[in-house]
Amino acid sequence: MAEQRERVAVCPGSYDPVTNGHLDILTRTSRVFDRVVVGVVGQSIRKQATLFNAEERKGFLERALAGNGLENVEVQVFSNLLVEFARECGATAIVKGLRAISDFEYEFEMNQLNRKLAPDIESVYIFASAEFSFLSSTGVKEMATFGGDVGDLVPTEVAAVLTERLRR
Ligand code: PNS
Repeated sequence: MAEQRERVAVCPGSYDPVTNGHLDILTRTSRVFDRVVVGVVGQSIRKQATLFNAEERKGFLERALAGNGLENVEVQVFSNLLVEFARECGATAIVKGLRAISDFEYEFEMNQLNRKLAPDIESVYIFASAEFSFLSSTGVKEMATFGGDVGDLVPTEVAAVLTERLRR
């Protein structure tokens, strides 16, 4: 029987900061692929400046993933086209989480652009678990700014740093 190639997926995002919803998607992706590379975008041109720099965002992810025992998941920062980054990682799939219909339009456009650039790399979508379908990094930052408790929405370390950095 022919030897099977390692199946690698890239999970891209801003992760500013990582939430428990992201960790849920990464955990589920890690069960389907042999290796998962979390791609932390250095700076997205569509979004405002991030609250945390790329190395901080990467560090939060690495420590949270280590705490969850996900050994086939690694984190890298990328600043080039996502499909180029995916190629560098040897990935055949880009995996994204979908929360609600509101995510669809953006993801549909990204899907078409990425497919045009690299028809050989498949985009795969995983629906968020119900308990995380409302959760976003933006919402968490807003809550923390106004003193809301984000303790069960993000890793413990992230909750502490958010409270310290954002609380008004
Ligand atoms: O968590 P986000 O902010 O929705 O993630 C956005 C991300 C990183 C997936 C997107 O900005 C991205 O893919 N950036 C890299 C540049 C690129 O390849 N863009 C799409 C094709 S033009």
